[in-house]
Amino acid sequence: MPGFKVAIDGPAGSGKSTISKKIAEKLNLTHIDTGAMYRAITYLALEKGINLDDESEYEFVSKVKIEYKNEKIYANGIDVTTKIRDDKVTKNVSKVSSFPYVRRTLVSIQQEAAKNIDVIMDGRDIGTVVLPNADLKIFLTAHVKERAKRRLKDKEVNNVTQDIEQLAKELQERDLKDSTRKESPLVVATDAIVIDTTNFTIEDTIERITNEILKRRITME
Ligand code: C5P
Repeated sequence: MPGFKVAIDGPAGSGKSTISKKIAEKLNLTHIDTGAMYRAITYLALEKGINLDDESEYEFVSKVKIEYKNEKIYANGIDVTTKIRDDKVTKNVSKVSSFPYVRRTLVSIQQEAAKNIDVIMDGRDIGTVVLPNADLKIFLTAHVKERAKRRLKDKEVNNVTQDIEQLAKELQERDLKDSTRKESPLVVATDAIVIDTTNFTIEDTIERITNEILKRRITME
């Protein structure tokens, strides 16, 4: 697959999307947030009122049009950027994304989107399933208390308050579901660099990953 590919995986709240977005801007890569895609499908499934436990009701996924424009995500032409962050979506997304039909459909859309471009893609199965031949694979992690603290800060910016212990519990539940599902679970790719960001700032992590990208780009030239 031509183009330089960076895969960023890791548990909920590890900073994958924020960091990937900033690196993309810095190095002129296209950023694809695959979590936002699973969230958009979950949002649509909730809107349609389908039985979320029944895999046969997810056929609509193959017809959904997902687009990114000016930092916003659209599903079937509807701007769902804010809606996909609702608690109801967050609570159900791990279930929706555990169905093989949903995963296979989104994985093929993601692979198509990454074709022939320089891309940084973040998610749970990018280095293992979506882009197994990526030029660089990073697994970002951080202690769950630290991840909950960061999530809480994001929420407070939007005037939402939540108990930190409860938030940590929800993150752990989601991680458990994501890492124990049968189809493409969250695992560390054997050739990934694992970065524990518990004691690092976002800027530290961006610098570390940027250096890895530049090193590999130079070796490839
Ligand atoms: O990255 P984010 O936390 O927004 O992802 C939301 C959910 O989408 C994850 O908890 C996981 O269930 C699912 N997901 C996935 N595979 C990906 C990206 C996200 O299963 N590549």
